[in-house]
Amino acid sequence: MGSIIVVKAFKLKDIENTFIIIDATGNQKVTDKLLKYKNKHAILLNVVDVPEVCDFYFMALTKNEPLQIAVSSSGASPTVAKYVRDKCQELIPENMETFLEELQSKRNNGIIEVEETLEVTRTISSKAYLVGCGLGDPELLTIRAYNIIKNVDVVLHDHLISDEIMSIVPKNVKKIFVGKEKGFHTQSQEEINRLIYKQIKKGHSVARLKSGDPFIFGRGAEELLYLTQKSIKTEVVPGISSSVSGPLMANIPITTRDYSNAFTVVTAHLKGNAINLEWVPMLKSGNHTVIVLMGLTKAKEIMEEAKALNINMSLPCAIISNASRKNQSVKIGTLANLHTLALSAKRPAIIVLGNVVNFLHELEKN
Ligand SMILES: C[S@@+](CC[C@H](N)C(=O)[O-])C[C@H]1O[C@@H](n2cnc3c(N)ncnc32)[C@H](O)[C@@H]1O
Repeated sequence: MGSIIVVKAFKLKDIENTFIIIDATGNQKVTDKLLKYKNKHAILLNVVDVPEVCDFYFMALTKNEPLQIAVSSSGASPTVAKYVRDKCQELIPENMETFLEELQSKRNNGIIEVEETLEVTRTISSKAYLVGCGLGDPELLTIRAYNIIKNVDVVLHDHLISDEIMSIVPKNVKKIFVGKEKGFHTQSQEEINRLIYKQIKKGHSVARLKSGDPFIFGRGAEELLYLTQKSIKTEVVPGISSSVSGPLMANIPITTRDYSNAFTVVTAHLKGNAINLEWVPMLKSGNHTVIVLMGLTKAKEIMEEAKALNINMSLPCAIISNASRKNQSVKIGTLANLHTLALSAKRPAIIVLGNVVNFLHELEKN
């Protein structure tokens, strides 16, 4: 049915036989007329922005059929009502509709399981985040990572997450340390997975904080797989990796046209504390940079393998510890003294091997 808009001055005759009236004229004379009229007639009146004379208010409404949310500020502020409605809307999981349909059909058959329904509601309303926290300087977090850290209920963190990052986690957020520092019990990956799951089951939003990028030697993939298998909604948030940006923090470019046209990121440490030296032959190539993660305690073996392969031991190297953090330190040397450098280097650290390290000398000249 179409509507007709008539532009004219208001007359009481216009509202004969009308029961609900919305006065949006902003004209005090019109409002006074209506209020007088109301005394003698059974009508419901809403005067926009004058809540004290209203007989009813509009709700900020959202419909996620069959679920509906209505929020009212009793006329005080539709803006606040809308804001609260939108916040509530964010809490509704995407699959709520399907879940409610299932519950409806169970109910039709007389099946009502309160505890189970609550548990599933909590689980589907929660979300897990695998958050890349970059190098340690909070200013190098992505905006997404920052917002998640500020808004979740629980964070799980380990020794690689810097104190600076932890200091931005709000006080009311539950912090669970999952280990690897001397004096703390180290949680196995399975234990960490189960801990995340346990918090999700309680209806919490959970951020597992990961150093650097979650998918670069960070076991983020294992956590994502576990949570997905448990049907937990999970978002992975990228982070600045120590592998590519750690050298930058020490002014070492991992590629330059003069020194290096490729780079490789390796870990020296494999599952079960095994050592990885398969990559060492790459050091033969003069125009290639190799960045080694988790290599500090394996420096002696790296050197020995390089010697055995007749690699040029004067290849420049750098060890960058605590990249981006207040206590960042850089040690420069060659493959020949890598072990000595590593002995006094602080953790966490990356090792950069390649002629690009000489770029630092060029910078120093200027
Ligand atoms: C388990 S791996 C995680 C790597 C991480 N996902 C990334 O993308 O940087 C841990 C290793 O990353 C390196 N690392 C992480 N943060 C570092 C930092 N701020 N400075 C130097 N090395 C860092 C160290 O080699 C450390 O042993």
